[in-house]
Amino acid sequence: MITDSEFIRGLPKAELHLHIEGSLEPEQMFEFARRNRVSLPFRTVEEVRAAYAFSNLQDFLDIYYQGAAVLQTEQDFHDLAMAYFRRVAADGCRHVELFFDPQTHTDRGLPFSVAVEGLLSGMAEAKASLGITSKLILCFLRHLDEDAAFATLKAAEPWLSRIVGVGLDSSELGHPPSKFAKVYREARARGLNLVAHAGEEGPPEYVWEALDVLGVDRIDHGNRSLEDAGLVERLAKSGMTLTVCPLSNLRLCVVDDLKVHPLKRMLGLGLKATVNSDDPAYFGGYLAENWIQTSAAVGLTRSELVTLAKNSFTGSFLTPAEVAPHLAAIDAFAKGAV
Ligand code: ADE
Ligand code: ZN
Repeated sequence: MITDSEFIRGLPKAELHLHIEGSLEPEQMFEFARRNRVSLPFRTVEEVRAAYAFSNLQDFLDIYYQGAAVLQTEQDFHDLAMAYFRRVAADGCRHVELFFDPQTHTDRGLPFSVAVEGLLSGMAEAKASLGITSKLILCFLRHLDEDAAFATLKAAEPWLSRIVGVGLDSSELGHPPSKFAKVYREARARGLNLVAHAGEEGPPEYVWEALDVLGVDRIDHGNRSLEDAGLVERLAKSGMTLTVCPLSNLRLCVVDDLKVHPLKRMLGLGLKATVNSDDPAYFGGYLAENWIQTSAAVGLTRSELVTLAKNSFTGSFLTPAEVAPHLAAIDAFAKGAV
């Protein structure tokens, strides 16, 4: 019988919640800082890692935005994406829907084209060299106002056919989804899919707003939905995908211990949960590590692992025809791996 860790690595999986800027490893941060002549407030990789002790989302965001300042050229974004894709290819990941935060880059003077072109070229190379497919999701920073989100959507116009959807990230508390109602309506009118971070630190009301005011296709995180039985029923009945990020939840103190992580409870309640890494360079693990550590901590069965793998594809923005071979590959792998 193969080990759980071998089973998890071998299962075909998709990642649906990954901020590409959150895959910036400290070593790469120094490399980009050196080649772009950007100064860093750290002298060593160890000093950087020591700074990754967060007590909440904002603690993390402050350091994450600071780190992103080393990204200056299309080549940097290309290299960042390829480094991430190489890591998750080794994790058994077959498809990724990655977020990027254009405002983090345009607000420090980079043209909109730099991040998007660099990422799209990295995504094309990942398909050609690693066989991993991917789609790009543009996130609006929710601590900024809706006009800034509209300006971002306008700047993205030339690339909209190569962007699968929009998302909402950054500081959740005090910035409810309803703040972005109009720009989400506009994004939908342009044929984009819609996702939003909700219920990570914010209350269940923010998840209701993401559903009813924004009309999202997926909820990113969604942990605090469990505080509201009516909301759980709504999410379960509608088959809404939740992109859950266990190691992120641990590092940002959304949960005190992985052993009490709600992932298994979510599955038991009939919620369509998936497992993802969020910002792996900052939270101590890429895709497979999230699966392996959480499975060990909460005791997932092989059947639950298969459900999670299937959810990651059926919850993606791939077409049913594209999803079907992945589901067949999951079944074939699970059947052969006893
Ligand atoms: N940006 C990057 N990671 C994030 C997270 N977990 N929540 C909100 N915004 C983010
Ligand atoms: Zn996130």
